[in-house]
Amino acid sequence: MRRLLVVAAGLLSWCGLAHAQGFPTHPITMVVPFAAGGPTDAIARIVAEQMSKVLGQQVLVENALGAGGTTATARVAQAKPDGYTIVMGQMGTHGTAPAVYPNLRYNPVTDFAPIGMATLAPVLIVARKDLPPKDLKELIAYAKANASKLNEAHAGVGSISYTSCTLFNAAMGVKITQVAYRGTGPALNDMLAGQIDLMCDQVVTYVEQVKGGAIKAYAIASSERSPALPNVPTTKEAGLPNFQVMAWSALFAPKGTPPEIVAKLSGALDKALDDENVRKRLTEQGGIVPPKADRTPAWLQAFVKNEVERLTPLLKAALAAQK
Ligand code: MLT
Repeated sequence: MRRLLVVAAGLLSWCGLAHAQGFPTHPITMVVPFAAGGPTDAIARIVAEQMSKVLGQQVLVENALGAGGTTATARVAQAKPDGYTIVMGQMGTHGTAPAVYPNLRYNPVTDFAPIGMATLAPVLIVARKDLPPKDLKELIAYAKANASKLNEAHAGVGSISYTSCTLFNAAMGVKITQVAYRGTGPALNDMLAGQIDLMCDQVVTYVEQVKGGAIKAYAIASSERSPALPNVPTTKEAGLPNFQVMAWSALFAPKGTPPEIVAKLSGALDKALDDENVRKRLTEQGGIVPPKADRTPAWLQAFVKNEVERLTPLLKAALAAQK
């Protein structure tokens, strides 16, 4: 009986390995939990295109919206763990969501098989082009005097832009009306039309509009200037040193995805990020390609745990300060 069980276990693991070796045999769906045209979508499309080439199968991007990205992320957590449904999670869905959704239908740390970090991106403070303040110091004074007249857009409660705006407001000591969108792509369109005053979001997708003068950038919330926008000062230079946010986007499969399949996806992401054209497209938009050592599933697993622990008290304190 024991021998039979050993043989059966061996057969099962051989079948699993054989299945993983053939992976992928059909297209993979990469879920983006925010609207098309926003930073998460832009990063996902650049990475998916190159991963398709590496894997020899299409990686199709599917935008699925709602609740600051948590609706679609929950769907992926519950998807069949076969590697064919993965999510481009990010600092909102996998870092700050637990702080603001008491009934979140997934645990970012335990309900996923991390694949790897895709891109880091500092947060940029942007405004409609005709907002009167000329620099960050003027903006802070203006916000204090006109808080009730200003609005700021975000991509849903818990998203990167929501967290960044909340931290920004707390750092300035003002309360500004927040307008929720299902992604900052549509929010940027409304800013271009003059309906939205302010946004704090990961820099990716704002660079061209800032360079072209269609919107204005007050500061980048990082310790160093972004090579993509070298004329935009850091928050430290501009007078708000305590407001610094480094956003990130990373790929996750559902928990239970076979390790061999996770390794294939992770290897494809790693190769995609080594591609010169991918690196150029990401860095031109202000993204930071993670170093090789920070692209592994194990690194991402530890990072997400740390981010949830770091960001939860930070966001809760900023929200409490806004009450
Ligand atoms: C966020 O605010 O979390 C993202 O920038 C949303 C998006 O990619 O649209």
